[in-house]
This record gives sequence, structure tokens and C-alpha cells, in this order.
Amino acid sequence: MTRPKILVARAIFPETIERLRAHFEVETNPDDQVLDRAELVRRLAGKQGAFTTGSERIDAALLDACPDLRICANMAVGYNNFDVEAMTARGVLATNAPDVLTETTADFGFALLMATARRVTESEHFLRRGEWNRWSYDMFAGAEVHGSTLGIIGMGRIGQGVARRGAHGFGMQVIYYNRSRLSPALEADCKARYVSKEELLRSADHVVLVVPYSAESHHTIGAAELALMKPTATLVNIARGGIVDDAALAQALRERRIAAAGLDVFEGEPKVHPALLEVPNVVLTPHIASATLATRRAMADLAADNLIGYLVHGKPLTPLNPGVAAR
Ligand code: GLV
Repeated sequence: MTRPKILVARAIFPETIERLRAHFEVETNPDDQVLDRAELVRRLAGKQGAFTTGSERIDAALLDACPDLRICANMAVGYNNFDVEAMTARGVLATNAPDVLTETTADFGFALLMATARRVTESEHFLRRGEWNRWSYDMFAGAEVHGSTLGIIGMGRIGQGVARRGAHGFGMQVIYYNRSRLSPALEADCKARYVSKEELLRSADHVVLVVPYSAESHHTIGAAELALMKPTATLVNIARGGIVDDAALAQALRERRIAAAGLDVFEGEPKVHPALLEVPNVVLTPHIASATLATRRAMADLAADNLIGYLVHGKPLTPLNPGVAAR
């Protein structure tokens, strides 16, 4: 029996490749180039499966050029690189990697919040430049974290993880805004109060964004929203580039209309808006919120299990369009 053929679009753990090789003919990308559209189409020719990351865009034009494709398994919880509707229309299964990264990503959201509020990287740069020559009463005085008000926009699994850390670990008052309200039991568990987006922006000391990217969430935070925030407030984005208008944020930071920001994701990443690189009151990290080895292994395993589950056994683990598998 011929084995299904798959493409693993980016470099990934050798152990994951070995697992996949037990079931499939596997083409890999050991040089880890980000494949442009033409190259991706070329390499996907004759393949039934694709192991993707956020860097491969799977849309109608690509699918039309790759008629053998039956599944794309994303090694990410976010899947804004997939046009799920186009995939469903062509009978291509889409899977993502939820749950396994929830707590690790929430940890990082909190790390970024702490670093931003307490000016960790800004003060480190000062020290590294050799500018620290004496104590002073207000040197790098930041914003209080414990006991302050934490506003979370996007209260899915990761948002809830950030809320629990804030409420239970740091005695913060947690308020949240989400498309739909949580159940009373979940609200109690997260000690979180539902408010409007406007109230959240006006009253939070620290705003954390954990909303998935879509046309609807594009520029959830722009100049108008930044203008509602307290001048002492901080903003953290661990969700996706494009949820914040980076140019408007850079201007607000430069003019100190908010105190500081912590960003793990950027519009057009890996490029970063040059104005953000010019302002000192921003902590910048290269999209690493889920990056612990254990979690990245679990994400890779889940993507591999989805490919094996579907192409070998007809049962994917975490389908985004389960109707395709049922056809
Ligand atoms: C990372 O950004 C993910 O969506 O998993």
C-alpha cells in the first residue's frame, strides 16, 4: 500500500519527523526557509498532508493549485494563516494546536506584564550602556502590579489563565471584555468581572490582549482606544500582530499617553514598526509566548497526531472544520 505523502513546511524536532516517517513519506525543510507561495505550491504537489506553522498561508489560490491536499495541521493555536472557509469548501481538513500551550502562554503574558510594568528591559539597557552610577529615589519607578486592576480583552483559555494568575497570585481586580460572557462558574474561578470594552480601557491599570485575529479584531486597539486608557496604564499584546495599530501605539508611547507596552507580536512580523524600536518604554519579544521546549514539543506532537489521526485512522484530534472529516 502506498503511504500518504506529507510536507513538513518548516524545520521541526527530529523526533517529530521520525514519528511522521513511521506513517508517511515525508518531505522536510531542514534549512528552515520560510517558503513563499510558489515554493510552497511546488513542494505540496502530490502531497496529501501539510504540517504548517503560522508562516504558511493556506488560501483558496493555494488549495486550487494543490488538489491532492486533504489536511493542513497547524502547529499553533491561532490559525489566521488558514482560510478555513476555503478549506472546508474544498474538503480540506484544518487542525490547530489548542490547550497544550495555554498555561505556558499565560505565563509569558504575565512575564511581559511584569517586565512592562516594572521596566525590566528598559532598566537593563540602561545598565548595559554603563549609565548606572548612583541610586536615585525614582530611578525606573514603575507601575504597581499586585492589587492593581487587570483588564483582559479576549477571555478564552489563555485569557482565563492570565486572569487566574492575576487574581489568585497577585490579588488583582480582574475585569474582562469578550464577545460572549463566561459562565458564572468560570467568572468565579477567574474572579473576573465582565465589563464593556470602553469601561475596561478607562479603568484598567494593565490591559492584556488575548483575542484571536480576524477582520473583526483588526486594530482592536488604535488611537481612539489608546486615548481612553489611563496615562499610567500599560498594554500587553500576546495575541497577534494587527490587533494593535502599531504606529498609533508607538506614537502614544512616545507622547507618554500610556506608560508602557509589552509586545510579543507585531503587524507584518518578523518586521517591527521602526517607531517602536525608537521608544524606550516598550518591551519587545519575537513571538515566543509558547516557547518552552516542553510546550513546543507538545504542539509539534499534536500537529503530528492530527496528521496521523486523520490520514491513517480517519480521526483528527483537534479539527477546526470537523464536518470535513465526517464526509
Ligand atoms: C502562536 O502564536 C500560536 O497561535 O500558537
